Amino acid sequence: MSALLKPFNLKDVTLRNRIAVPPMCQYMAVDGFANDWHLSHYASMARGGAGLVIVEATAVSPEGRITPGCTGIWSDELAQAFVPVVQAIKSAGVVPGIQIAHAGRKASANRPWEGDDHIADDDARGWQTIAPSAIAFGKNLPKQPRAMTLDDIVRVRQDFVDAAKRARDVGFEWLELHFAHGYLAQSFFSAHSNQRDDIYGGSIENRSRFLLETLREVREVWPEHLPLTVRFGVLEYDGRDEQTLLESIGLVRDFKAAGMDMISVSIGFTIPETSIPWGPAFLGPIAERVRREADVPVSSAWGFGTPEIAERVVKEEQLDVVMVGRSHLANPHWAYFAAKELDVERASWTLPAPYAHWLERY
Ligand SMILES: Cc1cc2nc3c(=O)[nH]c(=O)nc-3n(C[C@H](O)[C@H](O)[C@H](O)COP(=O)(O)O)c2cc1C
Repeated sequence: MSALLKPFNLKDVTLRNRIAVPPMCQYMAVDGFANDWHLSHYASMARGGAGLVIVEATAVSPEGRITPGCTGIWSDELAQAFVPVVQAIKSAGVVPGIQIAHAGRKASANRPWEGDDHIADDDARGWQTIAPSAIAFGKNLPKQPRAMTLDDIVRVRQDFVDAAKRARDVGFEWLELHFAHGYLAQSFFSAHSNQRDDIYGGSIENRSRFLLETLREVREVWPEHLPLTVRFGVLEYDGRDEQTLLESIGLVRDFKAAGMDMISVSIGFTIPETSIPWGPAFLGPIAERVRREADVPVSSAWGFGTPEIAERVVKEEQLDVVMVGRSHLANPHWAYFAAKELDVERASWTLPAPYAHWLERY
């Protein structure tokens, strides 16, 4: 029996296997609205046979979008646009998830294939970014953010809460808070980007405050029986990784105590200069350590998208769920492909009948 193809239970939700499509921005929204592109994209991901499809980083406020093409959920109308997407994912037997996000100082950017840099200051498509401190990311993202006031902090937390309620009301069954990748929440945690001298900066306790408060407030509105997960960069690869990892594991324990059900282990991406040891499954041992030391279920991404690797990391209990991103863009039926590669009997059970019937037959 393949470990990867075994079901996974979390709260009242059962994933039919351990394969997930992680959030992947499509940059195809107009004014934040999901549209036909998103419907066909997410439907095809879901039909491919994964257990979970998480809809891309969806902004909790207009200023929280990475680019003008990012989806948003700051109004009921925007949330309604996800209804067909949710239905398409569910009707394929897949759990529909969504990642809610605020891009902080990395917001107001051009699409990756249109420069991947900040929109020029004199370009009306751009907007003022906000962050814990008025420190720019640098390199391709040089725009200086405005340091958030205490009122801003309260407002953004409330934006996350309202976004969670809307996601709940349109039928998402899995919520991921985007606390990773140098976006707003991660930039509160990192001393590289947070140099506040109030209760939101300085000590590890203070740098964790925005994340924990947001999580606790979201937990109050997100149904107890549905999974609430966090994506978090547990290290930066900036030369002080053991210390950051220890702090991160402490915070993951606090997330758990605050009601988080699972952690998606990722990278901080808070500074441009890093030495990330890119390679197949390189985060596996890190995720395993977080899983063991914080005693929480974990998922992770970055280079797990070959069947043998995905199978191994579940079998070795490094990951509970494997996020397979780019391999799904290349082959939306990756789960079927993986089941075939792993010699799973009747691999086509992961597919809808109009495909499975023919693949079984010949
Ligand atoms: C097109 C694209 C968009 C992405 N958008 C997001 C996103 O919205 N939220 C997020 O947390 N990560 C995002 N990521 C990172 C992926 O979730 C994932 O971590 C990454 O693709 C590495 O996994 P892989 O090696 O299986 O592709 C994106 C990656 C890609 C390729």
